[in-house]
This record gives sequence, structure tokens and C-alpha cells, in this order.
Amino acid sequence: MDPFDPTPEDRFSFGLWTVGNPGRDPFGEPVRPPLEPTELVRRLAQCGAWGVNLHDNDLVPFGASAAERDRIVGEFKAALEDSGMVVPMATTNLFSHPCFKDGAFTADDPRVRAFALRKTMDGIDLGVELGARVYVFWGGREGTEADACRDPRVAVSRMRDALDFLCGYVEDNGYDLVFALEAKPNEPRGDIYFPTTGHMLHFISTLQHHERVGVNPEVAHETMAGLSMTHGVAQAMEAGKLFHIDLNGQKVGRYDQDLRFGSEDVKQALLLVRLLEGTAGGPRYDGPLHFDAHAYRTEDAEGVWDFARGCMRTYKILKARAQAFDADPE
Ligand code: GCO
Ligand code: MN
Ligand code: MN
Repeated sequence: MDPFDPTPEDRFSFGLWTVGNPGRDPFGEPVRPPLEPTELVRRLAQCGAWGVNLHDNDLVPFGASAAERDRIVGEFKAALEDSGMVVPMATTNLFSHPCFKDGAFTADDPRVRAFALRKTMDGIDLGVELGARVYVFWGGREGTEADACRDPRVAVSRMRDALDFLCGYVEDNGYDLVFALEAKPNEPRGDIYFPTTGHMLHFISTLQHHERVGVNPEVAHETMAGLSMTHGVAQAMEAGKLFHIDLNGQKVGRYDQDLRFGSEDVKQALLLVRLLEGTAGGPRYDGPLHFDAHAYRTEDAEGVWDFARGCMRTYKILKARAQAFDADPE
């Protein structure tokens, strides 16, 4: 076996929305046939991945009946069981439905805010049922274009109210679940609130249940902001707040590209892996290694799996290079 082939011990995970992305972009229709979530699980397992993550609606379509939900979840659980895959993380889609056009937890319409909470509670129940230990919050629509619609301080306090409430929900239910907040500076909104991991880290310190809440930094998002992903992750680790991570590749100053991990700025990628693996000393990160990377639109159906294997293999090659680097003082 090739020493860089991924195995479940490596803790690599992918989202249903990543390997399931049919190559749609804002300017073009899908270029690959959609695959069922159960098929995505089987294919990921064959590639050597350990986990699969999902938004509520990646699995259960918006508006499905209770019976439909239970059937879909039952079939998905059977596919997990068959392939030995786990669901380490789950999250809520609070951005696709038109009702979230002005955001979810920070929207001005109180009915939208209430619905966002209810949808998230259902998503948390689903995630826990599938075994997830981390619940991610990516506030893609929590932002503005014209920006005169509300005092941004109100947005901060609405977000705090939502997270305090949802932490209470997790505690009341006795769930073994932590929250990880994912920052992004823009896209799809002109400006998104809490644009970087640093903003999130401070905000977490103001929450009622701050010990249950950490961050989910993404290479692409920190790089879009022109920042060092490695420094953001280091600050999160130092604070004991790195609960999850989204690995991919990105050029500075562009839209969110979600490129193959390690395909851009290989030095930053090496320094990031070195930090996560602790090869230079200090505690290592032992959570899920999630690739929020999307196969290129030019790939065909099989190319998606080459892409997935390539992300994992690149991580393992960089890990070996980091170990070699730190083992050689000279
Ligand atoms: C993006 C984000 C998302 C989130 C996902 C899970 O820019 O679209 O990175 O992919 O990671 O919603 O929280
Ligand atoms: Mn992203
Ligand atoms: Mn992400």
C-alpha cells in the first residue's frame, strides 16, 4: 500500500455538499449527474475517508413530511453502518430558502428568526441522531449589501441571543454536542457579520455557555480576507477553541474558490499541517479533518473521487514533510 493512501485512522471527512456538488456555479448549470447521499457515503468509504458531514437539507429535502424524513434517515443510517462511515459534524442550511434572503438569526423579521431557531433545533436533533459531536454555524446570509437596514450592534446581539438559546436547547436535552462558528468575510452577502476567526473568538467569550462554543476556521475564508490561516488557527488552538476545521485552497482576493487542499500557497499549507499535527511541539489537534473543497467543474463524475483522494493524499504528504522538517534541527 502507498503510505499516503488515506485510511479511517486519518479522520478525514467530506460534506455531502462537496463531493455531491454537481458542478453548478452562479453562471452555469450542473455538469455532473447528482448522486444519492447513500451512494456518496459508499464512494467516500471506498476512497478511505472516515466521515461524512451534512446540512439538514443535504439529506432531508426542505418541507419533507415526518414519514419521508424517517425513511430517508433510516436508509442513510443503513449506508453508514454498511460502509463503516461516521457523521462527525452536522449543520443547518439557513441560506438557500428565499425566506432567508435577509439572514436567519440576524434577520429583521422576527418570524424568520423564530423559524431559523426551529429549523436549527430540528437539525441538531438530526445530527445527534446520526452521531454528530460537532454542530457548525456558518452564517452565510447573516450580513448586508445596502447596510442601512439595521444597526450592526443589533445583529451581534441577535446572534448572541440565538446561540445562548440553542446552547440551552442542547443542555436541556443532555446532548453531547459542541458548536463551531465558521467565519467568512463576504459571499453570498456583500459583508458578512463576524468576518474572521478572530472576530468569532472574541464573540464566543461573550456567550452565556462559552465553554460549549468554538470555531471552524476555513482556509478559503481567512485567505479571502488576506489573512494567515495558520495564525488564526494557532490563536484558536491556544484558546482551546479549535473544534473543527475546513481545509481547501484559495487565492487571495477572490471569491470563495474551495480549491483542492494544498493546490495554492503550499508553504502556508505545510505550516498549517505542521501546526495541526504538532510536529514542532505543543498539543496537536485531534478533531475531524474536513475538506470543504469542491471538485472542479471541468471534472467528470469519476474525477470527483480523484479530487477527494488528492485532498487527503496531499495532507498526508505534507504531514510527512512536517515531521521530517522538525526531526532535523539543522
Ligand atoms: C461556504 C461555507 C460552507 C460551510 C457549510 C457548513 O462558503 O459555502 O464554507 O460550505 O462550510 O455551510 O457549515
Ligand atoms: Mn467556504
Ligand atoms: Mn466551509
